[in-house]
Amino acid sequence: MDLYEYQARDLFESYGVSVMRAQTATTPAEARQVAEELGWPAVIKAQVKTGGRGKAGGVKLAKTADEAEELAGQILGMDIKGHTVHRVMVTEGADIAAEYYFSILVDRSERQYLAMCSRSGGMDIETLAVERPEELARVGINPLVGIDEAKAAEIAAAAGFDEADRPALEAIFQKLWEVFRDEDATLVEVNPLIKAGDGSMIALDGKVTLDENASFRHPAHEALADISAVDPLEQKAREMGLNYVKLDGNVGVIGNGAGLMMSTLDVVAYAGEDLPGHPRPANFLDIGGGASAEVMANGLSLILSDADVKSVFVNVYGGITSCEQVATGIVQALALLGERANKPIVLRLDGNNAAGGRQVLRKARERLAGVVVVATTMDGGARMAAQLAAGTATVEDLRDAPEGKN
Ligand SMILES: Nc1ncnc2c1ncn2[C@@H]1O[C@H](COP(=O)(O)OP(=O)(O)OP(=O)(O)O)[C@@H](O)[C@H]1O
Ligand SMILES: [Mg+2]
Repeated sequence: MDLYEYQARDLFESYGVSVMRAQTATTPAEARQVAEELGWPAVIKAQVKTGGRGKAGGVKLAKTADEAEELAGQILGMDIKGHTVHRVMVTEGADIAAEYYFSILVDRSERQYLAMCSRSGGMDIETLAVERPEELARVGINPLVGIDEAKAAEIAAAAGFDEADRPALEAIFQKLWEVFRDEDATLVEVNPLIKAGDGSMIALDGKVTLDENASFRHPAHEALADISAVDPLEQKAREMGLNYVKLDGNVGVIGNGAGLMMSTLDVVAYAGEDLPGHPRPANFLDIGGGASAEVMANGLSLILSDADVKSVFVNVYGGITSCEQVATGIVQALALLGERANKPIVLRLDGNNAAGGRQVLRKARERLAGVVVVATTMDGGARMAAQLAAGTATVEDLRDAPEGKN
């Protein structure tokens, strides 16, 4: 999970890293008020989870209240690399003597952490790494030791800092290491880390990525999650414990196992190539092994509630769970959903006891009338789902039609 700059700033502050005073605002009037409290000059900064905000016009200096309000008005609503600005951070203008770069990240190939540091900060670090790699110090960090006094001194020396600046820098490196370690981060980056006119070192910008695999030991991280940026259906799926990703087509797809899901998405995308509007997958929904009626009902109701979905393709391969159980689950799920099962559904079951599964569906045939079509092959099922989404066939047309051999 990536944090916004203001969240990184607050986190840094709680670890004793020097930062500028700041507060967020979501309207120009609010930005004006915050700037007046902080004093002049104030800096208005777009809060989006992407880099290059400054270049895009998302970081501006305001010298008066009118200016602060006007600039906040320009920045709010701005689009920066596909991210809409909903919030700005209003912060004190810093007295910048020099801009440096510092980061800690995971070095997978070396199986340790890596600190990167440069006296040439503020600029795009990827460019620096390519054009002037000798100016970017790279120092490996043993995860068991971290950045202690000796390691901090090694980093400052490798980057070639002046003796006079080193104590303050080494202190901030160690504090940023504590943020990285104690918050289970995979990235802590400060660009620029500045030297102020009085010689103090301040984190002027911050990028932090938290490791979601460790979220179980950080209950406080939940509050940092950006719910507004997540698709509402994805949010609902997460609450139900479903593995769901929204896509931009109109055929809802449910399967079990990531591999089968991926190939089902491909097959669905190709199946409708020649049809009007070229139906494509509307989502990825992996219900995992042992698809119980409840999980199936949750998955189906989620997908049916997506207004973009015109038809649903359920493609299940019985492994440990038998198709008979899955079919029973589907029939129960449809009974649970009742009226909400209002879009055509194509079912294809294969694998462990597929015959038993089809038997269950045959028995429920009357109850499933008008909604469900049973397919025997993956290609055949995908084709039917695409036709149903395109409106070139109805459930009645397909129910007893012989499927193409695949
Ligand atoms: N509070 C501040 N006071 C004075 N100058 C600032 C302040 N914040 C940022 N700046 C100036 O603006 C530049 C860009 O700011 P910042 O690093 O926050 O954004 P960015 O680098 O464009 O965004 P990103 O890091 O997301 O790519 C800084 O290098 C610095 O020169
Ligand atoms: Mg920056």
